[in-house]
Amino acid sequence: MKPWIKIERIPSPLASAYIKATQFAVDSYYRPVAGEVVAAIDRGWILDLGTGPGHLPVEIARRAPDLRIIGVDLSRRMIAAARANAAKAGVGRQVRFVVGDSGRLRFGDARFDMVVSTGMLHSLKDPVGVFREIYRVLKKGGQAWVFDPTNLGHPQLRQQWQASLEAQERFFLWLFTALKIHRPARPLPPDRVRAIIDATDFRHYDMDVRRNEIRIKMRK
Ligand SMILES: C[S@@+](CC[C@H](N)C(=O)[O-])C[C@H]1O[C@@H](n2cnc3c(N)ncnc32)[C@H](O)[C@@H]1O
Repeated sequence: MKPWIKIERIPSPLASAYIKATQFAVDSYYRPVAGEVVAAIDRGWILDLGTGPGHLPVEIARRAPDLRIIGVDLSRRMIAAARANAAKAGVGRQVRFVVGDSGRLRFGDARFDMVVSTGMLHSLKDPVGVFREIYRVLKKGGQAWVFDPTNLGHPQLRQQWQASLEAQERFFLWLFTALKIHRPARPLPPDRVRAIIDATDFRHYDMDVRRNEIRIKMRK
């Protein structure tokens, strides 16, 4: 079922339900992914695109004191949640969160050692434009990891998340689903991903196609 309109930014009425969902995924998703990131790089600058409530930057910062991470998101609400999460975790010195569009980044060329993004790809209106921006801001030899969609993990966590929702959050989820504005996120087909990458200057990449997720690792 295709959405009638494609909205990149998480709509405000759904933000609190989404923020709650991500809290359930810290152990099962963000921590293991952060562990993989710091195994690949332990110093320098990382950019996280579509950072949402910032769990990935926070978990990376906890593990590697010599890394600095900037998170970018279109949604002010998400950036506010990310700043609060970083302050609570005591990693405010290492992370910075800014409102911005991944397709028009306000960073100079070759600024970052690594670019990461979880859960954003499926919602992009112009994925080629975003991948070109990733290439531009990445240093030569740097890696870009795009994982999508973010996975809660065990179905039990999904049930716990649903049970945690308040009536208003449930209502807006139902309404946005009924209006076909919101739908469960699905990974892009591998052929579509290949076409996106082929339209950029990335020449070296791997794709790990899983049941409900695609993990793309590119190198500049
Ligand atoms: C499903 S959430 C994933 C958030 C986070 N990375 C995670 O894994 O929990 C997707 C996020 O991407 C943001 N987003 C979508 N398109 C964007 C764009 N063009 N530039 C920046 N952020 C974008 C949305 O506002 C939303 O917060």
